[in-house]
Amino acid sequence: MKIEKVGVLGCGLMGAGIAEVAARAGYETIVREVSESLLDKGLERLRRSLDRAVEKGKLGAEEREATLGRISGTVELGDLADCDVVVEAIVENVEEKQRTFRALDTVAKEGAIFASNTSSLTITQLAAATSRPGRFVGLHFFNPVPVMKLVEVVRTILTDDDAYDAAFELCRSLGKEPIACRDNSGFIVNRLLVPYLLDAVRAHEEGVGSIADIDQGMKLGTGYPMGPFELLDFVGLDTTLYIADIMFDEYREKRFAPPPLLKQMVQAGRLGRKSGRGFYDHAGK
Ligand code: 3HC
Repeated sequence: MKIEKVGVLGCGLMGAGIAEVAARAGYETIVREVSESLLDKGLERLRRSLDRAVEKGKLGAEEREATLGRISGTVELGDLADCDVVVEAIVENVEEKQRTFRALDTVAKEGAIFASNTSSLTITQLAAATSRPGRFVGLHFFNPVPVMKLVEVVRTILTDDDAYDAAFELCRSLGKEPIACRDNSGFIVNRLLVPYLLDAVRAHEEGVGSIADIDQGMKLGTGYPMGPFELLDFVGLDTTLYIADIMFDEYREKRFAPPPLLKQMVQAGRLGRKSGRGFYDHAGK
């Protein structure tokens, strides 16, 4: 199937990034938010990201204009009716996602591929809420979307081969490196990453090392671009806690159980970069 028009549900951090890479790759792109104010905020984020790419000399001014010309925003789900593929990046809540996909199902054209960017929910429970589970995949992008090369392309036992292959090719055409995953909570990366991040918090709780030394150890000892606490602040402590809770619920294994310190940090409002303070102080940055 030929993909010409891409729809994106949600224009937060991930949705704006996905819309940006789709439009930069030449696709007509429409992004839907639930309110005009959220849409304005999301599109502003997207414009800032393009400006930054121009400043860094990675994007020409004309290309920026052309990219913006391919992007439109809407608050109406019906405006996604002619999309060939719709990628959902809304709040990480299963009922909310199912409700949105059910509504999309009634307006989207026949054969359109539905994809979820969920980080920890299983794709099957979302696909099964629609009348087209065969055309449903997971497309898990990584933050920051314009920079990170990886997309996990997730198939369920219900996914049709042609829809899966088209989604895989779409990622390649976005300049990404797709990998194939079977549906399970956390897919490949978060299944390995989340226990590692949680274990870093446990190691610190147990007095193995300071936050700075654990970060330094993992950066210099393994070549990671960020230490676990830097990454926790980057991803968001609330987001990590939410993902860990979902994964613990799914697997009932201790390695996915959020440690007390992580919960307390979230309760205290120390959410990481987004709130100005997490394990590190980001105020003024
Ligand atoms: N948008 C666009 N471009 C960005 C960006 C953003 N938000 N942030 C950084 N960049 C670009 C910069 O422009 C720069 O490009 P250049 O090298 O061509 O000039 C490049 O990325 C490097 O940026 P900086 O020099 O400003 O900073 P760093 O070298 O420290 O890199 C980083 C920043 C790319 C974020 C790097 O630290 C990194 O790779 N960190 C790990 C990120 C990671 O692990 N992400 C995955 C999180 S897990 C996830 O998303 C899954 C979810 O389910 C939880």
